Amino acid sequence: MKGIKLLVSMSQAMMILLLVCTVLVMLPVASAKRWIVGDKKGWTTNINYSTWIEGNNFYNGDWLFFSYDRNQMNVLEVNKTDYETCNSDHPIYNWAAGAGRDVVPLNVTRDYYLISGKGFCFGGMKLAIHVKNYPPPPVARGVHGLGQPKKSRKTHPKNQKKRVGSGNCKKQR
Ligand SMILES: *[C@@H]1O[C@H](CO)[C@@H](O)[C@H](O)[C@H]1NC(C)=O
Ligand SMILES: *[C@@H]1O[C@H](CO)[C@@H](O)[C@H](O)[C@H]1NC(C)=O
Ligand SMILES: *[C@@H]1O[C@H](CO)[C@@H](O)[C@H](O)[C@H]1NC(C)=O
Repeated sequence: MKGIKLLVSMSQAMMILLLVCTVLVMLPVASAKRWIVGDKKGWTTNINYSTWIEGNNFYNGDWLFFSYDRNQMNVLEVNKTDYETCNSDHPIYNWAAGAGRDVVPLNVTRDYYLISGKGFCFGGMKLAIHVKNYPPPPVARGVHGLGQPKKSRKTHPKNQKKRVGSGNCKKQR
């Protein structure tokens, strides 16, 4: 009897240990973030997107999500000059797929310049984003020596989870 009881409590302890380890290992993976451009207002006029990006860190592997009036606006990637002058004549890439809901993967560590064509750039629909590499992940205490496989922070965007609290990270103003 005593032996069985001991076995049960040991397996319970193992379960808890396994749970803790799983959580610890999963934490660094939940890293990519899907940014809703303009938050609740979306991609539209009368928003200063320079202000919107203030205090936010954009990392390689994150996404931008643009939600807008598909009958009027669009999402064009342009170079720095065309961003500054609101020139939409020769976009590098047209991200507008037609539904007014576009996802732009920030999968290269560089500057991204996105504007709306059809004149809306002049009304403020322009977004310049500096995408950084993740800082080296902090060493998780307690994970070492347990034989858990090390997970890399960077996985393919498709496999990445939303960062916890995404959308709530913005300062309220
Ligand atoms: C947007 O805000 C930035 C500072 O955050 C400011 O420099 C810029 O002039 C503003 N743009 C407009 C169109 O108000
Ligand atoms: C952006 O593209 C335009 C037209 O192709 C070109 O004239 C301009 O020099 C480019 N600017 C940069 C910073 O590459
Ligand atoms: C980034 O994403 C675009 C669009 O999905 C894709 O065409 C491109 O190959 C990707 N680049 C890298 C370096 O993964």
